[in-house]
Amino acid sequence: MGKALEGVRVLDMTHVQSGPSCTQILAWLGADVVKVESVTGDITRSQLRDLPDVDSLYFTMLNCNKRSITLNMKSEQGKELFTKMLGKSDILVENFGPGAVDRMGFTWERLREINPRLIYASIKGFGDGPYKHYKAYEVVAQAMGGSMSTTGFEEGPPLATGAQIGDSGTGIHTVAGILAALYQREHTGAGQRVTVAMQHSVLNLCRVKLRDQQRLTHGPLREYPNEEFGDEVPRSGNASGGGQPGWAVRCKPGGPNDYVYVIVQPVGWGPIAKLIGRPELADDPEWSTPEARLPKLDKMFQLIEEWSINHGKWEVLEKLNEHNIPCGPILSTKELIEDDSLVDNDMIVDVDHPNRGAFSTVGNPIKLSDSTVDVHRSPLLGEHNEDVYVGELGVSATELAELKANGVI
Ligand SMILES: CC(C)(COP(=O)(O)OP(=O)(O)OC[C@H]1O[C@@H](n2cnc3c(N)ncnc32)[C@H](O)[C@@H]1OP(=O)(O)O)[C@@H](O)C(=O)NCCC(=O)NCCS
Repeated sequence: MGKALEGVRVLDMTHVQSGPSCTQILAWLGADVVKVESVTGDITRSQLRDLPDVDSLYFTMLNCNKRSITLNMKSEQGKELFTKMLGKSDILVENFGPGAVDRMGFTWERLREINPRLIYASIKGFGDGPYKHYKAYEVVAQAMGGSMSTTGFEEGPPLATGAQIGDSGTGIHTVAGILAALYQREHTGAGQRVTVAMQHSVLNLCRVKLRDQQRLTHGPLREYPNEEFGDEVPRSGNASGGGQPGWAVRCKPGGPNDYVYVIVQPVGWGPIAKLIGRPELADDPEWSTPEARLPKLDKMFQLIEEWSINHGKWEVLEKLNEHNIPCGPILSTKELIEDDSLVDNDMIVDVDHPNRGAFSTVGNPIKLSDSTVDVHRSPLLGEHNEDVYVGELGVSATELAELKANGVI
């Protein structure tokens, strides 16, 4: 079976998380992704190390299925080699600080002159305007994209989410942009520039909170548990705040992740009332309609919790699903990495690594019926120098040794 992106060549000048998460997906979809690293390598190879002198999990979990070459982009010979590679590539992806690639001498004008079919994707913290030149990391994007101000409890400070919506979320947005540009190139023959800002990606994921910002002008948000409203969307704890109310209720034995998130759809109330031992509430006009329950959602979830606290979260999941009630136990990282169904779905994948032995990684969530994904380990620093420079660019073995001795690779 072939791969969706077979034959597509990507020069991957990404580092840390946002860019690598994008190019890892391109690699999983079958593109030949060559990671171009400085001679010291992507900084994450040595960050958060769990084993001495071995590429960290931070690196190995974001750079699978890629090749790695080293190249000093600040040397003249480095720039020449890079120019040759550009001519043979379909896509260049980078997420350096603002202006870094321009400073290397490769402006968009120069890049398209070298290869008019090149798709050049950049991830930055921000779009045009006052923040354009600022660097950014995950939680900076969460702060400025609407996530932090809307996450947490009303009485507490703004909170960051563990989901890497600023980094990996932006990576996914960038994949979409690149694939669209590849498709357009089929018709026009020309490459184009793809730019994605982390702030914009987080904002896109916080779209419903801007829906609520505008609803506020017409009165309080009745689906929120908050009692008072100012002129901005407040933090609303675990309330779904959406069309169907939801909350995390406690379960037995009361540990930090012994909770189930329960959604009460209109059709779900009757079965829930019976399940929690309060069948009389199913038809009680004080409780039987969504409108009647809306002003007392806290009380409703309290009633559900009085039942759930006597049952384990897996039992609650089963019992609620017997009645088709949407719910989800809060799964810890330990439970996730040991979850057989995720292993069966190739979402928790074991990968062998020559220096660290086997490690687990998260697989590809995008399933294509005619382009299956085999997850291969991340490359060692410069592991493919010979393949690329000698095998593909025609550099001789002697020249390769000189490039190495001169610090070009
Ligand atoms: C993540 C970030 C804050 C890290 O900042 P940083 O560690 O200071 O690194 P920068 O990307 O700003 O700079 C990289 C430098 O390495 C240099 N470099 C990178 N690859 C190189 C290579 N192969 N050869 C020579 N130099 C190289 C760059 O030229 C640049 O040098 P310069 O500033 O002198 O021009 C920054 O890259 C950034 O804001 N990126 C965009 C947003 C983003 O993706 N953030 C999320 C990361 S998960």
